[in-house]
Amino acid sequence: MVDVLLGLQWGDEGKGKIVDYFAGKYDVIARFQGGPNAGHTLYVNGQKVVLRTIPSGVFHDSTINLIGNGVVLDPVAFQKESQDISALGIDLTKNLFIAEKTHIIVPTHRALDKASEIAKGNDKIGSTLKGIGPAYMDKTGRNGLRVGDVMSADFENLYAKLKQKHLELLSHFDISEFSDDIAAWEAEFFEAVKFLRTMNVVAGEYFINEKLKAGKKVLAEGAQGSMLDVDFGTYPFVTSSNTISAGVCNGLGIAPQWIKEVIGVTKAYCTRVGSGPFPTELHDATGEQLRAAGHEFGAVTGRPRRCGWIDLVALNYTCMLSGVTQLVMTKSDVLDEFDEVYACTAYEINGQQTKQLPFQLNGLDVTPVYEKFPGWTEKTATCKQFNELPNEMKSFVSSVEKYLGVPVKYVSNGPGRDQILEK
Ligand code: GDP
Ligand code: IMO
Ligand code: MG
Repeated sequence: MVDVLLGLQWGDEGKGKIVDYFAGKYDVIARFQGGPNAGHTLYVNGQKVVLRTIPSGVFHDSTINLIGNGVVLDPVAFQKESQDISALGIDLTKNLFIAEKTHIIVPTHRALDKASEIAKGNDKIGSTLKGIGPAYMDKTGRNGLRVGDVMSADFENLYAKLKQKHLELLSHFDISEFSDDIAAWEAEFFEAVKFLRTMNVVAGEYFINEKLKAGKKVLAEGAQGSMLDVDFGTYPFVTSSNTISAGVCNGLGIAPQWIKEVIGVTKAYCTRVGSGPFPTELHDATGEQLRAAGHEFGAVTGRPRRCGWIDLVALNYTCMLSGVTQLVMTKSDVLDEFDEVYACTAYEINGQQTKQLPFQLNGLDVTPVYEKFPGWTEKTATCKQFNELPNEMKSFVSSVEKYLGVPVKYVSNGPGRDQILEK
């Protein structure tokens, strides 16, 4: 069977930490979408590690890890990440497998991402500039290159043809700011391609289905968040993949009947990095306080994350889209220092209250309707059991689960591996 773990907001919910916590219970951890735009932070023996393309199960001896076909893999970022992990004593040749149908990101994808963002000016998406959008465009446009192609003798020719197409596209953009970088990126790329060829490349769909038939337990690890889903997120301010549970089937090659639990991860508040609508965003000192208390700076780009209160309207939507069966609430400890905490229970748009996401939020004047909760103003990071948490926090958690109709099974009260409380 397959359990799915995914982010229910705009990313950075703490998925990496939670996958690492659960990993010991699974035989396989599999990434099904996204690429090096992801930054999943774990603490291993007290040391901080940020994973980008590699699943967050790599630090468990009994777990193997699969990069599924739905991922877009940048050989350069992958090599760097692999070397960092190997330096921690992990042998990736034993516990990491890559689906041969995984699309690759080439240097000119990164150039196109950058050129497109520059051309958009004030309307830019705030992309991580890792080449994600252009790589998925080539996948659906049927031009892409896959890991299986990297293994073929003809790879250099295939690459040259794709690069030529990209150079034609780039000629329509002003790339004067970074045109010199492209040649340097290409030199690194060919080095990284050699490295990629040394990895375990498999027919991912057969690999995972054989494991499932043998009774193995799989955890599918989502990247980004449901509100960044290309179909249902705050389009066009989204990423380019399906981040909801539906993405698991085509991102790994499994049938929906295998999926059992869908574990949704949400912060006790809300953040977003990059542009796009964010109804509960706080532009005031409280927003600053959340950023400082939660250390809300991007794991990939270092950008300050935008902060605000938890948005139950959006969470209700994303629980519905993925069929979430249980919730993990992270970063509850960050709210310790607030006298009052708030949860958005409806949107007011043109004087009308609604609990539904409108067609699009861009350009709409949305006033969040809040329910206020008393704060607990005591430190919770050292609590070892759910019952030790202050009553005010418990009633906040139970209001969230009541609104969403989904149980909160765990509360995470700190970034450390053992800072998690089962309810
Ligand atoms: P991901 O992309 O969903 O894996 O999340 P990120 O790693 O980008 O961001 C989550 C950040 O919050 C990381 O710095 C984590 O170390 C940290 N974190 C995770 N869970 C908790 C928690 O319960 N409390 C606190 N204070 N920090 C947490
Ligand atoms: P994890 O897995 C938060 C955001 C970017 C930008 C938009 C599109 O760590 O939760 P892209 O590079 O995909 O073209 O960017 O999506 N974004 C993320 N925000 N966490 C992420 O991943 C993100 N991956 C992309 O900031 O707004
Ligand atoms: Mg992240």
